[in-house]
Amino acid sequence: MADSALLRIGKKEYTLPTLVGTEGEQALDIRALRKESSHITYDEGYGNTGSCESKVTFIDGEKGILRYRGYPIEQLAEHSSFVETAYLVIYGELPTKEQRARFSQLLRDNANIHERMLHLFEGYPRDAHPMAILSAMINSLGCYYPQMSTNDHRSDLEHFDEAAAITISKVRTIAACSYRMSQGLPMMYPKHDLGYCENFLHMMFSEPYHEYQASPEVSRALNLILLLHADHEQNCSTSTVRMVASSGANLFASTAAGICALWGPLHGGANVAVIRMLEEIHAAGDDGSRFIRDAKEGVAGKRLMGFGHRVYKNYDPRAKIIGKACEDMLKSLGREDPCLDIARHLEEAALNDEYFIERKLYPNVDFYSGIMMRAIGIPLTMFTVMFSIGRMPGWIANWKEVASNPKGRIYRPRQIYQGPAKRDYVPVDQRG
Ligand code: ACO
Repeated sequence: MADSALLRIGKKEYTLPTLVGTEGEQALDIRALRKESSHITYDEGYGNTGSCESKVTFIDGEKGILRYRGYPIEQLAEHSSFVETAYLVIYGELPTKEQRARFSQLLRDNANIHERMLHLFEGYPRDAHPMAILSAMINSLGCYYPQMSTNDHRSDLEHFDEAAAITISKVRTIAACSYRMSQGLPMMYPKHDLGYCENFLHMMFSEPYHEYQASPEVSRALNLILLLHADHEQNCSTSTVRMVASSGANLFASTAAGICALWGPLHGGANVAVIRMLEEIHAAGDDGSRFIRDAKEGVAGKRLMGFGHRVYKNYDPRAKIIGKACEDMLKSLGREDPCLDIARHLEEAALNDEYFIERKLYPNVDFYSGIMMRAIGIPLTMFTVMFSIGRMPGWIANWKEVASNPKGRIYRPRQIYQGPAKRDYVPVDQRG
């Protein structure tokens, strides 16, 4: 059979069906293997494991392709906005004019957070990390919308449109609020006549007697940053969202778990790590050459942050777009940033260095996003929060796929146990 694979273990043979995706990606379907054999497949970190079938995002890491619902990221970055792209990612099609207006209206109607929820912020210490607050608050949203968080997917899906709009709209309000609280500043309520990004910037930076006005360059830059992060296939946080959703958990709980997964420096926290690295290089009077040498020698803490990707082994198409946008934005704002010069030098040096070439290490989206966010005025502690705002549509779309799958099973990988073999309990007074 052309569309099956033969697996031989010892003297026994097993026929495995194959699956082919829309773009020709191929997979061995090992689901039935367990019934016939005691073998499981071993793939630590799931580097070569398809955990689901999905219709949201396509990535070809070798060719540097990223498409949301079939649309190339380059076209969306040029012509679309974050809100329109969020609609596309969640609902599968670009919205008509009416649909886009209705979606925007739903976002506007849901921008405020419940007044009682504001008290929750006050309990946090001033230096609490906004990612901890964000994930707790997104999970807490479920308490304010019990009809949408029943943990019965069929009933939660009946309120999906509203729950999705609540999550996308309020994640931005909660993010801005957590920042204001950390600064000891009063919360700024959202304004209904502002667009999604402008409203976020208003809630972050306006003062009671001085309204922040986002320049077109800044709001375009923020739209781009969020749009480029809107989804990215089965990465660590999205897989976490699906994993949690597979147990039947509601949208708020599942996306809150995604925020936690995104926090770490190897995932969403990389943009923070990039800026810290660039500042460290700058403070040491290095142009990046010494840092590259240390990274190649594996010196602890000297990994070239913002470089490398589990999937892209050619280039990250988002990095190309954002690298150029970062240059344009700094130019149009008339800003200079020594970190940008170091970043450029690091990129050039690494792209011509055997170590990085051999390992197919290229800049990823986070290499330049931090410099852009810094130019907008977003503080370092908020960088990963910004990524969470951007990734929310992808998490929602993936939650929906899990929740809508009538044949869905709970995600439950297996393991190879390497601990002690069976042994008998020893009472405490007999232990040596
Ligand atoms: N700098 C220097 N060397 C690196 C880097 C790097 N950034 N990334 C990988 N390598 C080296 C590894 O040391 C390893 O070398 P070896 O073969 O000699 O042992 C080889 O390249 C393969 O690296 P792995 O860690 O196995 O690659 P993996 O696919 O597991 O990790 C990851 C990918 C986590 C992104 C990694 O490249 C990394 O840590 N990059 C820096 C952090 C970063 O930018 N993360 C953001 C990812 S994008 C996102 O989440 C939006």
